[in-house]
Amino acid sequence: MASVLEFTDVSIVREGTPILDHVTWSVADDERWVVLGPNGAGKTSLLQLAGTVGHPTSGSVRVLDEGLGRTDVFELRPRIGFASSALARRFQRDETVLDTVMTAAYSVTGRWNEEYEDLDVRRARRVLAEWHLDHLENRLFGTLSDGEQKRVQIARAVMTDPELLLLDEPAASLDLGAREELLQLLTGYAGEPGAPAIVMVTHHVEEIPVGFTHALLLGNGRVVASGPIAEVVTAATLSDVFGLPLEVTAVDGRFSARAA
Ligand SMILES: Nc1ncnc2c1ncn2[C@@H]1O[C@H](COP(=O)(O)OP(=O)(O)OP(=O)(O)O)[C@@H](O)[C@H]1O
Ligand SMILES: [Mg+2]
Repeated sequence: MASVLEFTDVSIVREGTPILDHVTWSVADDERWVVLGPNGAGKTSLLQLAGTVGHPTSGSVRVLDEGLGRTDVFELRPRIGFASSALARRFQRDETVLDTVMTAAYSVTGRWNEEYEDLDVRRARRVLAEWHLDHLENRLFGTLSDGEQKRVQIARAVMTDPELLLLDEPAASLDLGAREELLQLLTGYAGEPGAPAIVMVTHHVEEIPVGFTHALLLGNGRVVASGPIAEVVTAATLSDVFGLPLEVTAVDGRFSARAA
């Protein structure tokens, strides 16, 4: 069991305000984490550090056994799959779905002068099929529905067989059917032999895929709870971090929460 992420006493301070506040957290290669917390809790900031985008103000971050600040992030980044709406805004709307996914091979958005090999095309087609997107390969990215765009973002992130997959709110804005389809795909992907460590940020416990193993609860940049999912996603911890009494149920690996 190798360490994929190792945060030690990590803080980010912006304009005198701590965005992450003495966060100590580690992720092993066989773990799938969900990160929960209110708006502004620091979830995206945490994920950006894990994705080697940005640096902590203090503390140490190790990603895939390399120390951030002591290693070439351009060698590290191809080993990490990252999907977020901020990154998707950089995708070109008039590029085909196949090219949108394939350009991940060069860690670029937008096809330019790179030479793609048959291998890249075959890999891109394989991930498109795995994420139920093969019928859309020639469609322009900008013409896809939100649900289809979310799946393209993830397909692109897994195209290079990353050792760490980071997902920032992959189910946001999806309808019920699209959400459930995405969760089933994520559960299948996470359960495959050789699947990478996964860290997924979400706002809703209903969006935690079956098979996720651990949870990190952030509030005001601090770790409120961290550990095995059944111990962290509870009425007591969620009520504490969201500041209202909540009931939490867990059935067959799926969670739901409502005001008590
Ligand atoms: N460059 C910056 N300068 C000042 N404040 C920042 C900067 N980047 C982020 N913040 C602040 O840091 C806090 C944490 O932001 P972050 O995006 O990590 O939160 P989040 O948990 O992802 O929230 P959400 O659920 O709304 O996506 C917010 O209050 C945000 O306004
Ligand atoms: Mg965020």
